[in-house]
Amino acid sequence: MANIVGAFGTSHGPLLTLAADQWHLREQVDRTRKHAFRGGTYSFDQLVELRASEGFGPKNELATRTAFHARCQTQLDALGDMALDLNPDVLIIVGDDQHEWFPTGIQPAFTIYNGDKTLNSKYDLEKMKDWHISRIMVEKFRHTEVDTYYDCVPELANHIIARAVADEFDVNACPQVPVDANGPIGMGHAFTFIYRRILRDRPIPLVPILVNTFYPPNQPSAKRCYDFGKAIGRAIKSWDSGKRVALFASGGLSHYVVDETWDERMIKAIQTRDEATIAAEPETMFRSGSSETKNWLIVAGAMAETQMNMNMLDYVPCYRSAAGTGNAMAFANWK
Ligand SMILES: [Fe+2]
Repeated sequence: MANIVGAFGTSHGPLLTLAADQWHLREQVDRTRKHAFRGGTYSFDQLVELRASEGFGPKNELATRTAFHARCQTQLDALGDMALDLNPDVLIIVGDDQHEWFPTGIQPAFTIYNGDKTLNSKYDLEKMKDWHISRIMVEKFRHTEVDTYYDCVPELANHIIARAVADEFDVNACPQVPVDANGPIGMGHAFTFIYRRILRDRPIPLVPILVNTFYPPNQPSAKRCYDFGKAIGRAIKSWDSGKRVALFASGGLSHYVVDETWDERMIKAIQTRDEATIAAEPETMFRSGSSETKNWLIVAGAMAETQMNMNMLDYVPCYRSAAGTGNAMAFANWK
């Protein structure tokens, strides 16, 4: 049988890659968008008014942003060290697909990649010359200078698919890297961030699990994600291999509007294995970037099949505007 030897969770948002004195570049984007917050949809100016009493001023000072950015980098480094020291035979990464591998035309709720290699595609800076923010992120911690293929573990992927289907989860199987007019499509940001920033280009054989957390109408519910995670945990334990398997949740927590109250409730529910709270949480809370918290719920479900509990390494609510936009960064391990 295989052993689940540990798990990790990390945020992956742009503020982790942009320097603290570049965070205002994202505020400029925030001002042009509508934002999901506690079931409603608001303009930037409406959010400033709605949240005026919360006093975001000190949290938006450069000194705070600089200190918070440094705290995040410390945890990203620590997570990489811990994952590499753990040295699992297989790493399962649970991340959302934001129209990356599945750009249009098909939008599966749950996908398990069961091919033997996956791709991080090279970046083309010429194409991105008008995309200043994207260029910083892509160049630093997402894509690679040349097409890079990473080994995957189709034996475990196929085993999880079979066991999940037996448990009545009708998952999508993806046996090869999707292709568009430009050729094979590189993995999405939720996966490349783990490989480039956390593992620092020292790949561990991978099983990618892709979740549609973002896009209506077929996002799986929070309860469904947690239950799917439990099915994954049972499947790993029943894999007749003797291998050591670890998991990584990629994304979240609340963004692009930071909601510390909600994050605290979700973290506590995960730590106490409080399935009733997870099941009762309104789906309207899991919108936009906050929906990525479902990736954590899947890993939490898998780890509920072990004796290991989630240990928060740090929680860093990174604000970038008077509207409370930003990204609450969370870093955790299960041990
Ligand atoms: Fe994301």
